[in-house]
Amino acid sequence: MQNPHPYRRSSPQPHRPALPGDFLIPGTLLYHKELFMKALLEAVQPGDKDWNLVQAIDPTRLPAHIAVIMDGNGRWADRRRLPRVAGHKAGIGPVRSTVETCARLGVKVLTLYAFSVENWKRPRAEVETLWRLLRYYLKHELPDLQRNDIRLQAIGRLDALPPQVRRELESGVEATSSNRGLLVNLAINYGGRAEIVDAVNAVLDMARLDGSIASLRIDEDLIATNLYTATSPDPDLLIRTSGEMRISNFLLWQIAYAELYVTETLWPDFTRADLLQAVLEYQKRDRRYGGLSGAPAGRPTSGAGAASDDSLIAALRSS
Ligand code: FPP
Repeated sequence: MQNPHPYRRSSPQPHRPALPGDFLIPGTLLYHKELFMKALLEAVQPGDKDWNLVQAIDPTRLPAHIAVIMDGNGRWADRRRLPRVAGHKAGIGPVRSTVETCARLGVKVLTLYAFSVENWKRPRAEVETLWRLLRYYLKHELPDLQRNDIRLQAIGRLDALPPQVRRELESGVEATSSNRGLLVNLAINYGGRAEIVDAVNAVLDMARLDGSIASLRIDEDLIATNLYTATSPDPDLLIRTSGEMRISNFLLWQIAYAELYVTETLWPDFTRADLLQAVLEYQKRDRRYGGLSGAPAGRPTSGAGAASDDSLIAALRSS
């Protein structure tokens, strides 16, 4: 496994330089940034039901990082009078199509919430089915991930996973570690609060080790660089299926400025079209990061904006 302590600060992954002609390898999903969405256009032809959605996407304004709360598996099964685990099993197909579509679109990072630190509260049989499905996914998807240059990573408190699951996960991570296309983060035994606690403890451990603990001051950068996702950009778009308006302890630090998209669709029914709809909705949003629409970053020091600010402040002072 490339990072045996995922909660420790990890160094950025070395990326293979692009090779001349390394744009699109026939039969694979490989893409190059100058050929945005070419791979997606190959998969969707005029007349296909998703054609109009693909055409509407602006390839210059794609989210770099999409995070997904895959919810609604149990309800999907209930509605069919099936056991809950049938819903989880049906959730594998959308995982596969979401990974493929993100790779074809040219998204850089996809983070999927597969198992939360709270999910241990579920019946043992359900938890065991989730591990079996994860192992099934790793075994059957690995060749495709390799072929398509997709890198797998796991985030969360992985020490607590059943040893066999952990071994197979580590070997999938290791096997794909030199790929340079889409990064798929599987959040497993993951909790946003736990991640922040682990980051702070990693900082404290380092400071104890190098003797700087007495003068240690924590700042945002120190926390961010010790999160499990330290080497990835923060999510631009957070998708939640099944209509629940909750964050459920997912990427609490990283989603500070993410655009939220909640769909009523249950995860097992989530299709390529649903993902493309979410990206289109994202592209309509005006991301201000607490600033003003279209305004340059920082408080204006000259110009009309600054003058009116200054006269307002002067008027307040004299009143
Ligand atoms: C939430 O639905 C879903 C989960 C807790 C598990 C997600 C797992 C998968 C989609 C399958 C395996 C994934 C991978 C990456 C191989 P829920 O059970 O809470 O649904 P409910 O709210 O309707 O009960």
